[in-house]
Amino acid sequence: MNKPIDPKLFKSAEAFADYVSNTAARIDVNAEAKAHGDGARVGISRPHESAALHVAGEANYIDDIPELAGTLHCALGLSPVANGRLKEMKLDAIRAMSGVVAVLTAADIPGSNDCGSIVHDDPILCSGDIRYMGQPVFAVIAETRDAARRAAARAKEALDIEAAPPVITPQEAHAKEQYVVPPMHLVRNTDEGGAKAAIAKAPHRLKAQLDVGGQEQFYLEGQISYAIPKEGGAMHVYCSTQHPSEMQHLVAHALHLHANEVQVECRRMGGGFGGKESQSALFACVASVAANKLKRPVKLRLDRDDDFMITGRRHCFWYEYEVGYDDEGRILGAEITMVSRAGHSADLSGPVMTRALCHFDNAYWLPNVEMHGFSGKTNTQSNTAFRGFGGPQGAIAMENILDSVARELGRDPLDVRRVNFYGKTENNVTPYGQTVVDNVIHELVADLESSSDYRVRREAIAEFNAKSPVLKRGIALAPLKFGISFNVKHFNQAGALVHVYNDGSILVNHGGTEMGQGLNTKVAQVVAHELGVSFECVRVTATDTQKVANTSATAASTGADLNGKAAQDAARQIRERLAACAAARHGGDASAVRFANDKVEVNGRTLPFATVVGEAYLDRVQLWSDGFYATPGLSWDKDKMQGRPFFYFAYGAAVSEVIVDTLTGEWKLLRADILHDAGKSLNPAVDIGQVEGAFIQGMGWLTTEELVWHPKTGLLTTHAPSTYKIPTANDCPPVLNVRLYEGQNFEDSIHRSKAVGEPPLLLPFSVFFAIRDAVSSVGEHQVDPPLRAPATSESILRAITAVQGAAA
Ligand code: MTE
Ligand code: MOS
Repeated sequence: MNKPIDPKLFKSAEAFADYVSNTAARIDVNAEAKAHGDGARVGISRPHESAALHVAGEANYIDDIPELAGTLHCALGLSPVANGRLKEMKLDAIRAMSGVVAVLTAADIPGSNDCGSIVHDDPILCSGDIRYMGQPVFAVIAETRDAARRAAARAKEALDIEAAPPVITPQEAHAKEQYVVPPMHLVRNTDEGGAKAAIAKAPHRLKAQLDVGGQEQFYLEGQISYAIPKEGGAMHVYCSTQHPSEMQHLVAHALHLHANEVQVECRRMGGGFGGKESQSALFACVASVAANKLKRPVKLRLDRDDDFMITGRRHCFWYEYEVGYDDEGRILGAEITMVSRAGHSADLSGPVMTRALCHFDNAYWLPNVEMHGFSGKTNTQSNTAFRGFGGPQGAIAMENILDSVARELGRDPLDVRRVNFYGKTENNVTPYGQTVVDNVIHELVADLESSSDYRVRREAIAEFNAKSPVLKRGIALAPLKFGISFNVKHFNQAGALVHVYNDGSILVNHGGTEMGQGLNTKVAQVVAHELGVSFECVRVTATDTQKVANTSATAASTGADLNGKAAQDAARQIRERLAACAAARHGGDASAVRFANDKVEVNGRTLPFATVVGEAYLDRVQLWSDGFYATPGLSWDKDKMQGRPFFYFAYGAAVSEVIVDTLTGEWKLLRADILHDAGKSLNPAVDIGQVEGAFIQGMGWLTTEELVWHPKTGLLTTHAPSTYKIPTANDCPPVLNVRLYEGQNFEDSIHRSKAVGEPPLLLPFSVFFAIRDAVSSVGEHQVDPPLRAPATSESILRAITAVQGAAA
């Protein structure tokens, strides 16, 4: 049952009516309920479990937790230099400032000064080497946050640094051969001579370079940790993190404790987007070190500018590629070098590059391919996970290639894309050796092509452009295929804990974290479905390392797949025990006992769920259970980069139409049509929200969000919303048609659904290529526009000028 939305939450009666009609138009909840049967709790749209709390401002984030008496506040002193040696710290003047309780440095860390997630190359506080401008060097602990920040701002005067010239761009790092992890090579050929020979033999060849910028996560809630010392030296940390278990381990290492002495808890994040997978660690560690030393609770909440200056983000990529193709645009051989800006340490740059290489193919069969991935070590923030985790950076290179090939051949880019699609029964082995067995890209794209009127609109656009000298329109369709699972096999496991209390109410905990994506809503739906109770009977509480141990990051879009299955496993065990108990009391066969609509049918009788639970308690039946899940069938040889890294693939496609002002470079998205494959969706409303959010977020990455580091000083000059432009509601197109593809997961995933968090981030490729199409019309589609991403207005103008120059 859907709990009705309270009209009081809306500004006016009109706003509420608007919401209701909009939601009803998009999502026919009644039809969904019917299709799934009366008692179903999955497959049904329902609001996010915290929706009402979110809009009422009552959802608790870490800074909302009432502070304990004696709480101190921390701020970090940052390096004003991008590269060099720390010669001396003069901290006495800072220690003497009003309100300051302590100033801590690396020397105050009792355990290891490292918060690296995979490679141990990430100092918590600087221990000599200055690696980037913004690197935390010391921590000020003060009575108030204001006092701490004022004191920390004196870093420049306090730090004596022998500066060296910084390495800023991935190309510079590549030229110096300085990398954070060893170079990676992924090669697979069907022809004897390999990719090089296939390219040489091909009827046509294309050689080019491409530049794609990075992206700031821009979670609304910044990084925050609140550490509370416990008896016997233990530590309890509230941390806004996608990875409580890793925070637990890193805090334990920093404090020289065992994991069982550190508890990490997170009810929800105000957004993570990958930025709180590993990078929450530094703040959890600093707050814990301070709390441990001073024996008082310590909170560290970053200011937005500091968050930009300290933490990393999506890697920018630079590519150099050559492909050989036939008259229809079929890629016969491809060779690509990808260089990312990893920043000063490894962080997740290795896995990000792996996923980039494993997504260069996107939805296309590449018979001969040679890829080389270099994670350039630069004097910048350490780059990390961001929605798509390198997948978008891999796939966009291939899409750019196909777009150029189509222009060279004078063919519609959709036709060129289509001839390259993976086959259903042949031509279906990926470069990393996994056979694509669940391919729906042909049907999905055909459906979208017709529902979006792609061909008709392409003609209309050509007519418009012929008559419009200044304003030019463009259109593009971009497909996606995205692999689901962590490439590292052992991360693909999850646990859950379900308690049924003797009043019939249910509590579930699992290893995943809630960052707005609706994971808790889905897990609660799964548990409600399994036990045949209303959604409202199930409550999900904070993720807590003391409830479920050794969890993986909520990442790689696997949250619902892994934790949903684990919670289902736990709930099923309880249901089976309840069924056995009910049958023993009331007669009949335990396997015939039915749980639905808050009732239990046993031997011809219908009892309330709570009654059966109460009886089971009296009969001394265990009413709680753990559950576990490990994704089956995965394998990965990381040296050869071959195996079956993904359980399955998610698919999707989008058509975007833009209009560009060729005098100013300004543009607008006029319409977008999206068809996305979420399998048999657990919650269509939540999934459509994920698709829309990812689309707009990815559009920001490829258009307005530009990161600029000063080439000499290494200062990130775009470190606040004043200079870094994320999309707003105004950037949503007036027409946005989003549909979920009707289908189900080929694999036995949780209720045959598919992961949906990251794959739709590739949908806005269509916006970028529609802009490219509009720019290309300036030269009658004869010149390939040298458009870099983000396609800012400046970048668009530059490309227009280049096209005009080449066409003249
Ligand atoms: N949606 C919201 N609202 N907020 C977020 O921070 N993170 C994205 C995606 N959707 C994110 C989001 C990322 S990077 C991932 S990996 C997935 O959600 C993680 O959640 P899931 O595995 O439960 O889908
Ligand atoms: Mo998402 S980038 O895997 O946290």
